[in-house]
Amino acid sequence: MSTASIRFLMCPPTYYDVDYVINPWMEGNVHKSSRDRAVEQWQKLFHVMKEHAVVDLVEPQLGVPDMVFTANAGLVLENTVVLSRFYHKERQGEEPFFQQWFEQNGFTVHTLPKDLPFEGAGDALLDREGRWLWAGYGFRSELDSHPYLAKWLDIEVLSLRLMDERFYHLDTCFCPLANGYLLYYPPAFDSYSNRLIEMRVPEHKRIAVDEPDAVNFACNAVNIDRVIIMNKASDDLKQRLEQVGFRIVETPLTEFLKAGGAAKCLTLRVTESVQPLHHAAATIESRTIQLQGHLLDSGLISRALDLVSEGGGSFQVLNFHLGEQKQSTSSAEIRVTAPSHDVMEKIMSQLIDLGAVAPPQEVCDNPLEIVTQDGVAPDDFYVTTIYPTEVRVNCEWVRVQNQRMDGAIVVSQTPEGVVAECKLLRDLRKGDRVVVGVEGIRTVRKTESREVRTANDKEFSFMGSGVSSERRVELVVEQIAWELRQIRDRGGKMVVVAGPVVIHTGGAEHLSRLIREGYVQALLGGNAIAVHDIEQALMGTSLGVDMQRGVSVRGGHRHHLKAINTIRRCGSIAKAVEQGVLTSGIFYECVKHNVPFSLAGSIRDDGPLPDTQMDLLAAQADYARLIQGADMILMLSSMLHSIGVGNMTPAGVKMVCVDINPAVVTKLSDRGSVESVGIVTDVGLFLSLLVQQLGKLTSPYQLAQIVQTVQ
Ligand code: ARG
Repeated sequence: MSTASIRFLMCPPTYYDVDYVINPWMEGNVHKSSRDRAVEQWQKLFHVMKEHAVVDLVEPQLGVPDMVFTANAGLVLENTVVLSRFYHKERQGEEPFFQQWFEQNGFTVHTLPKDLPFEGAGDALLDREGRWLWAGYGFRSELDSHPYLAKWLDIEVLSLRLMDERFYHLDTCFCPLANGYLLYYPPAFDSYSNRLIEMRVPEHKRIAVDEPDAVNFACNAVNIDRVIIMNKASDDLKQRLEQVGFRIVETPLTEFLKAGGAAKCLTLRVTESVQPLHHAAATIESRTIQLQGHLLDSGLISRALDLVSEGGGSFQVLNFHLGEQKQSTSSAEIRVTAPSHDVMEKIMSQLIDLGAVAPPQEVCDNPLEIVTQDGVAPDDFYVTTIYPTEVRVNCEWVRVQNQRMDGAIVVSQTPEGVVAECKLLRDLRKGDRVVVGVEGIRTVRKTESREVRTANDKEFSFMGSGVSSERRVELVVEQIAWELRQIRDRGGKMVVVAGPVVIHTGGAEHLSRLIREGYVQALLGGNAIAVHDIEQALMGTSLGVDMQRGVSVRGGHRHHLKAINTIRRCGSIAKAVEQGVLTSGIFYECVKHNVPFSLAGSIRDDGPLPDTQMDLLAAQADYARLIQGADMILMLSSMLHSIGVGNMTPAGVKMVCVDINPAVVTKLSDRGSVESVGIVTDVGLFLSLLVQQLGKLTSPYQLAQIVQTVQ
């Protein structure tokens, strides 16, 4: 290409200054730049540019100081220009002047819908081979503008998400070079965008700069064939660029850095062409969703919007109806846009967990795919959560049965109608029709309470944590005691999951008492808790430690195996009770009071006890059966079994998790539901407080007596 055929547009800095702050570079620089020095630096750049191209000028205007940054005038491809719509009102005044220039110079001008920001060549850079367009979003330009670029310019658009506010325009951190090279600053982008870049630009063509070069705006460079014009580059960077055949021309632009711009920003290439081979559309997808609830008070709306942007998408709130009274709910319709189908699916499935729904008229059937191999789901299957879920079949919502997390949804036609059901992967059979994608799925969430819930509110922590007062501790245990009493008295179901620590910490007598008094309807654990409990009942030690005195008993380590051996001789725990061998302890009480228990085996089990289920699939099924219909699950220091239980439990079941390790508590109580309570404390102590509190509660029987006395 001859120099004469390459043209750029520039704007003299006659009215240039830093008058306001719309990016981090401008902060602290208002009226701190020198006009004279700016003019001098601009002139130098102008001369350098003229050595390699023709430079046209647009007339500067008073009151729009950033007009010097002509890169933001619009995006040019051949004879067409997409005019910028500035995000900040401070720059919107430039739009008519740039429009006029383009029109006078024979361009076809496209203007974006109002309220759809896009900042021209600052945020959209052509691959120098003309194969595609790189387009940035996240700060100034809206992702939704990208499909317009694809349509009007008939070119493939690759959307890149900017993450660092210092690099608010794509051209501040990204510069496609001749021969397919790329000069860029990877940390300015999210990981999805970095992957996209790496897929399109082979490693030996990627020239990544370090932060010191990035903050000197080394990527804000003008590339004309072999020449790269920029503010400043480190020796190392210069060397790397020279090695691959480029020539660097440095020209200081420090006065413009104060406004957040440099060489590239000050120029707009107005001769750009596309390779005829590479016309293609953008891969961008959009969908509309609805949200309902106490959107503002509960923070639901901001969580949903954060989730969209954190997931790499962007959004537009189409409408929002604010509930007027305290108790009335709000509703919103939001358009979600994502740079690819994958990203969209990820964002949508999280939005569904929050309770988002597609507008009713839009989908009649969620797509289904047929299982072709037993125990294996189709690739794109919808992974279930703990929340009650509905799926769209024949234009109706069908409630999914046997809700649990980490399953697939199987839809079948029965004589009674359509049935949708959660199934584990291993239970899928050839021919099952499985829900794929997320188009017609919704989760039914209880309208969240108006109070904003923070992580702190969900987690009570005492003993060893200075945060909570004694009084607070009492309140939590008091409340749990009250609920336990309610559940027992109305014939409800309380399930305990317990680890061996319950025995080591002296909790056995308290848990035994809860069972004796009818507070426990099922007990889940592993081999260890049963062995320790029985060892204590038979010999007064737990793993050889005397539970009364807290010291090791000589030869005590054998007690553990002796306990196992004794039960094996009897045939089972129940038989040991029957034969009068086992006469106290947690499992003795279970047998005596017909409380079913299930012991799930593991690789580290000694023995095991005859009662321990070493077939893990059978053990999982057993647990699932015992959990069914539970009102509350009390998880006592067993990470393994508690997580197992958590995975099988639908939302709506109150879970109380007690562990001395905050990580376990957080993991288990973080089910995104208000029903879970986590308590960080010693489990023996917790049980003793709980039993104490239960003792303080007045029973209906006592109440009746009191009433009688008063009468
Ligand atoms: N002060 C201007 C702004 O924040 C600087 C624009 C720089 N231009 C660019 N293409 N990066 O909008």
